[in-house]
Amino acid sequence: MNDLDVSLFYLGIEEDMTIQTVGVIGCGLMGHGIAQVSAVAGHRVVVCEEEQEAIDRGMGRIRKSLDKLVEKEKVSAEDAQAALGRIQGTVQFDDLADCDLVVEAIIEDLEIKKTLFAKLGETCKPETIFASNTSSFSVGDMGKASGRPERMVGLHFFNPVQLMKLVEVVKTAETSDEVFASAKAFGEATGKVPVAANDTPGFVVNRLLVPYMADAMRMVDRGDATPADIDAGMTLGCGYPMGPFKLTDYVGLDTTLSILEGWHAADPENVLFEPPAILKQLVAEGKLGRKTGEGFYKWDGDKVA
Ligand code: CAA
Ligand code: NAD
Repeated sequence: MNDLDVSLFYLGIEEDMTIQTVGVIGCGLMGHGIAQVSAVAGHRVVVCEEEQEAIDRGMGRIRKSLDKLVEKEKVSAEDAQAALGRIQGTVQFDDLADCDLVVEAIIEDLEIKKTLFAKLGETCKPETIFASNTSSFSVGDMGKASGRPERMVGLHFFNPVQLMKLVEVVKTAETSDEVFASAKAFGEATGKVPVAANDTPGFVVNRLLVPYMADAMRMVDRGDATPADIDAGMTLGCGYPMGPFKLTDYVGLDTTLSILEGWHAADPENVLFEPPAILKQLVAEGKLGRKTGEGFYKWDGDKVA
């Protein structure tokens, strides 16, 4: 411990300083954003994928986003360059071993996530804090799989991570107070406003948001209105920045379906969780939203065509 760490220790906030190197697993829609905001906040970042191609794609997204933020004078060109220099892309899982915090952002599949956390438990140093960016699954289940449930926490960022101001910090029945405080401080360091949430399905935001998105799809299944008219209704009538269909395209139809299927399997009586027919059909056709160029809308890059 250096002098600063000792002073902070006696102030009771020593854990805040222990997060220097951040591991991010998955460099997709969410992972690239989490890696970027962590690096901009001054952390060293190790971002891990299984294939080099996915790392290259994710790093390309980070560069594009940083260029945009420089253009808009939200980040200086020097800070953007320095942030890029702090990010190491890797396909070697062992490179995560010395991270102080590892944030998992892989696909929304509980069994795959649990396998990953078991591997992290075997790989990382004992002090490492484990976090999941899951939208819907039990963070406590992942903590148990890791073998160190007291060091597991949820860090649920919102899409696009670079622009959305919120992070939900999820405390399980086992998360230690120190780990929760460190995760909250990390969220604040990335420029987000943290809200505390319990480990219940959907935490705070998705428990309200995802049933609303699914209900809009059920309106289309019934033939009550078109996606374009429902989106116009919610943007022009309620001031939402995006209607539910553009938002589902933005989030990913596969991710939205995985969330609903997980909840529906656990609570089949709850009609709010029932996966709508149109969602299942579009996913089966490979129309996953903006990321595949088509979902409820056709996309031309980042804009609806
Ligand atoms: N990095 C840097 N800049 C970005 C960016 C990124 N990732 N994404 C967009 N921008 C830039 C755009 O290029 C654009 O720049 P110009 O003005 O120069 O063209 C600018 O930001 C504004 O973007 P848009 O033109 O798309 O305009 P917008 O005003 O609609 O803002 C938005 C975009 C902030 C995303 C806004 O539409 C919004 O708030 N949408 C709702 C998003 C939302 O609800 N997210 C939560 C999803 S649910 C979730 O995340 C949880 C879950 O578990 C599923
Ligand atoms: P995505 O499909 O865009 O990215 C997932 C990435 O994980 C891919 O690049 C994939 O190659 C990689 N991956 C899969 N298995 C891996 C493994 N074993 N090791 C390393 N990398 C692996 O998905 P996403 O939208 O970024 O979602 C990631 C997580 O974040 C999910 O849990 C999702 O529910 C959650 N989330 C998503 C959103 C959203 O709007 N899309 C918002 C908040 C939270």
